[in-house]
Amino acid sequence: MQAVIIEQFGPASAMRLVELPTPTPGPDEVLVRVKAASVNPVDIQTRRGDYQSAIPLPAKLGVDCAGVIEQVGEGVKNLKVGDEVFYVPRLLANEGSYATHHVEKAAIVAKKPGSLSFEQAATLPLAAGTAWECLIERGRLKAGDKVLVHGGAGGVGVYAIQIARHIGAYVVTTASARNKAFVESLGADKHHNYQEASLYQQLQQDYPAGFDIIVDTVGHHTIQNSLALLADGGRLVSIVDMAVPQNLLNGWQANAELHFVFTTQSAQRLSEIASVVDAGGIKPILERTMGLNDIVQAHELIEAGSRQGKIAITID
Ligand SMILES: NC(=O)c1ccc[n+]([C@@H]2O[C@H](COP(=O)([O-])OP(=O)(O)OC[C@H]3O[C@@H](n4cnc5c(N)ncnc54)[C@H](OP(=O)(O)O)[C@@H]3O)[C@@H](O)[C@H]2O)c1
Repeated sequence: MQAVIIEQFGPASAMRLVELPTPTPGPDEVLVRVKAASVNPVDIQTRRGDYQSAIPLPAKLGVDCAGVIEQVGEGVKNLKVGDEVFYVPRLLANEGSYATHHVEKAAIVAKKPGSLSFEQAATLPLAAGTAWECLIERGRLKAGDKVLVHGGAGGVGVYAIQIARHIGAYVVTTASARNKAFVESLGADKHHNYQEASLYQQLQQDYPAGFDIIVDTVGHHTIQNSLALLADGGRLVSIVDMAVPQNLLNGWQANAELHFVFTTQSAQRLSEIASVVDAGGIKPILERTMGLNDIVQAHELIEAGSRQGKIAITID
């Protein structure tokens, strides 16, 4: 098999495409012929060494996988050879999906949405799965809720907007001015430019009753600034490390719930997402498709920022 590996942490150029023995699945595992992966910020964070104590080297990167089951291990009942699947490989491990083959526990592998290409499907597991976990599982989203998505043009944000809209929420999102039309095309009712100094004052003025759910995909002081925007009993769900100390007093006044999500693998969640996708409720947001040979450039594009949706990697 071919795989992209790092032997040391570092810049994008630290990644190398190499030949390795094809693995065989153990009990309760499947061997997947990977057809597409996608690039996520966590791949960059892992590659540069943010989680080095958790990642033994050499390591394969890649936390989104879409492919075809090539072999099943003993005891696997939910999947068979030839099934088209998508999933999030185990996170903070050294066996990622930037490879022609990948072995994974069958319990976390779901059937791919039938209406999508492998590249489109590979944009979903981590990003849409995280957005679903934030809104549905932690936020307890329901029709009529008022939702604020910070970072609506990003990989997770594009799916958070669509999921909230699909359930029937009123959706407000923050993104740069150049992404206004883009986030509105995804279903956001209102865009606010995060580069405006008066952003939080404006949000407070425009939504005096507050938001039922706020999703933070940005970090820095977003939690502290957003707590004052919550409705009574509102839920703020953050997916970004709280890298700076923040004052949470405004959450106290709103009887707020504060959630941190480090996404978990769930075939059940992905199956629910696949049903919504196949029914047209969520569209894959694929900005660009590149090859495994272009992985260094793909990482550099993600690091440069300012994209609209995801970069998929075709693996043939
Ligand atoms: N905890 C978890 O389970 C989990 C799961 C997935 C991702 N994450 C993390 O969540 C973060 C976002 O991931 P992603 O895949 O969505 O990243 P991404 O695709 O790189 O998108 C980041 C987005 O943030 C926007 N942005 C930057 N500064 C902003 C600000 N001050 N206010 C509002 N928007 C701002 C950018 O918008 P413009 O282009 O408009 O400037 C960009 O669209 C990353 O740190 C990632 O590691 C965590």
